[in-house]
Amino acid sequence: MNDIELIKLALKAKENAYVPYSKFRVGSALVTADGSVYTGCNIENASYSPTICAERTAISKAVSDGHREIKKIVIVGDSNFTYPCGVCRQVIREFGKDAEIIIANDVDNYRKYKLEDLLPHSFGPEDLSGGVEKSV
Ligand code: THU
Repeated sequence: MNDIELIKLALKAKENAYVPYSKFRVGSALVTADGSVYTGCNIENASYSPTICAERTAISKAVSDGHREIKKIVIVGDSNFTYPCGVCRQVIREFGKDAEIIIANDVDNYRKYKLEDLLPHSFGPEDLSGGVEKSV
């Protein structure tokens, strides 16, 4: 799937954001190693801390379907270029050491990064002794 199509899906997912507290909508769309596509939105909670970001919603959907490698992930928020929070960067790191991250305002206004650009000198599964089995 190309970047523009993926940004369109993230914009569509953003419409489902459940944001009664912040009113800040975020959408995400990702592509896995086998080309599968998943989307997500942020989902807030009256108790605040259970809030889940759009990126982690999309990643949770992909992983729970058996996908463990993210190739590309788009984030579209309500601010001018919404970058992933620190928690989401670390979760992307778990499943996408070499992932491409697309921060988009719209289909014709976006920036591309590697996970390494946004989370340098990261800690990940390979750093644990023996590593982690990634196949399902
Ligand atoms: N949010 C995301 O969904 N992704 C990010 O990377 C940044 C923050 C959400 C969480 C919360 O619902 C709202 O934006 C305001 O922080």
